[in-house]
Amino acid sequence: MLDERMEEALNYQLNRELYSGYLYLAMAAYFDDQDLPGFANWMRIQAQEELSHAMKFYDYLVRRGGRAVMDAIEAPENEWESAVAVFEQVYQHEQMVTGLIHKLVDLALELSDHATNNFLQWFVAEQVEEEESSSGVLHKVKMASQSRSGLYMLDQELGQRVFHPPAEE
Ligand code: FEO
Repeated sequence: MLDERMEEALNYQLNRELYSGYLYLAMAAYFDDQDLPGFANWMRIQAQEELSHAMKFYDYLVRRGGRAVMDAIEAPENEWESAVAVFEQVYQHEQMVTGLIHKLVDLALELSDHATNNFLQWFVAEQVEEEESSSGVLHKVKMASQSRSGLYMLDQELGQRVFHPPAEE
């Protein structure tokens, strides 16, 4: 049985993962509008990943006898100044999410909820990857942005990204 505070905090994170997906979908739409389909593809995959993260929280709440509650998701931004500005925000956003996951771990430990702590460790590792991949792409975008052909080449590369459901990772 989940502690009420833990249940509420897990639901909050479920909402944040859905918000992340919504934000990345807005970024995908921005890149589609900029005629950069590879960048848009990268963001679409990122949005899919966030939905799969949300479902992990959903499933865990159900398994522990809690209830997944769908709260309002606020509108994300829809406009950016450049591809660099988009990826700077992705990197910042992922760092913020890492902080949220760490706070959840702190709460699980405070409540001696070892099962939830164990569940959250997947996300602790995932956030290392999320920060690494977003800062990696940010670096490439900064380099590529110096010429139209650089952006085109990177667009080709980002178009190769495919979605791997978490169970397969
Ligand atoms: Fe769900 Fe991008 O972390």
